[in-house]
Amino acid sequence: MKASIQNPHFLLRRLHSLFGLLPVGAFLILHLWENSQSRFGMAHYNEQVVAALQRMNYLPLLEIFAIALPILFHAGYGLVILRSGRAELHRYPWLHNRFYWLQRLSGFAILLFLLAHVGMTRFWGIWEPAVKADLFSHMQQLLSHPMIFLLYLLGLLLSLLHLGNGLWTMGISWGVTVTPRAQQLSFLICMGFTLLLFVVGLQGLLGFIS
Ligand code: HEM
Repeated sequence: MKASIQNPHFLLRRLHSLFGLLPVGAFLILHLWENSQSRFGMAHYNEQVVAALQRMNYLPLLEIFAIALPILFHAGYGLVILRSGRAELHRYPWLHNRFYWLQRLSGFAILLFLLAHVGMTRFWGIWEPAVKADLFSHMQQLLSHPMIFLLYLLGLLLSLLHLGNGLWTMGISWGVTVTPRAQQLSFLICMGFTLLLFVVGLQGLLGFIS
């Protein structure tokens, strides 16, 4: 045990796993819940969601230390993990081996999606004050393009499958779900949670364009 704690890869892997849940996973859930309020219309969304957030004290510090840096660490070390291990789907075509592969593929896809998403929203708002002042109309315009809507739909689905399967693997790697029965049950719970979050996220997307 001592030897594994002294191994920097062991510690980095634990930190990578922990950051996937907190704060990255928790932020994703909060973000979907906030955006699901788009269905209450432009005035409500701009004032009660966006402006309320922008009025928060120490917002830039929170954005950097509680959101950006943990995501960058998780993504950066995720890329290191991606280079190790092979799924060998043709030799082991089992469900969880497919998810092992999906976890890695989705990690890479989410990274590209996040760069596009943050660029089109947060950074665009810095250069263009009109975007920051009326984020609802900006999102409405963006999501009216079928290709951008599709991009968001895919980004949402992959992020949630990554989180859902990640929660399941966390249960195993942190020694919470040890028996095959517990792992079967927790897989069902994690996928149910994924589906629930997908419905919340989807209604957020549709709320901007309906
Ligand atoms: C929405 C953003 C993300 C969330 C909520 C998230 C969450 C998680 C969670 C909870 C795990 C499980 C950790 C474990 O098995 O112990 C995980 C694993 C993983 N994540 Fe992410 N992640 C996100 C983005 C990314 C990105 C951008 C990458 C970039 C490559 C990435 C790469 C990985 C990899 C490779 C694993 C598997 C680790 C392993 O099998 O040991 N993730 N993620």
